[in-house]
Amino acid sequence: MKIGIAADHGGFALKQQIIEILEEMDFSVTDFGAGKLNPADDYPDFIGPLARAVSSGLADRGIAVCGSGVGASIVANKFPGVRAALITESYSARQGVEHDNMNIICLGGRVIGPELAKELILAFVKAHYTGEARHERRLKKLESIENQMFK
Ligand code: RB5
Repeated sequence: MKIGIAADHGGFALKQQIIEILEEMDFSVTDFGAGKLNPADDYPDFIGPLARAVSSGLADRGIAVCGSGVGASIVANKFPGVRAALITESYSARQGVEHDNMNIICLGGRVIGPELAKELILAFVKAHYTGEARHERRLKKLESIENQMFK
């Protein structure tokens, strides 16, 4: 699985911790920045390229971190085919993939700590979309909205 990650200054510290956690578990991770802590940087500049990579299939899953996770989720969902959500507990980290085929998890670097982040990310990367008919039906409806709105 190709995993991408990105964060602004609000999520920078957590991003670095998550990269270490994933590498310890032998996941390969592409870092879309920020490359260093810059308190004046803007989350769309990093979350945008990550979401573009997920949208185009260059990455299978993404981890987007900002201070609250809110800006990250708003930006990520501007990209066709991206299904991003702000997650704070493990039920949704897993079920969001199983039912909604969530492909970007958004986290708040000022909201959660590294241990909870680890649990959420593990739940996210281990989960698989079930493809059940009711979920497919709902995703088709989402796709149709996306096709109308992103013309
Ligand atoms: C940056 O200070 C902060 O506004 C940003 O990281 C994020 O929380 C926005 O949603």
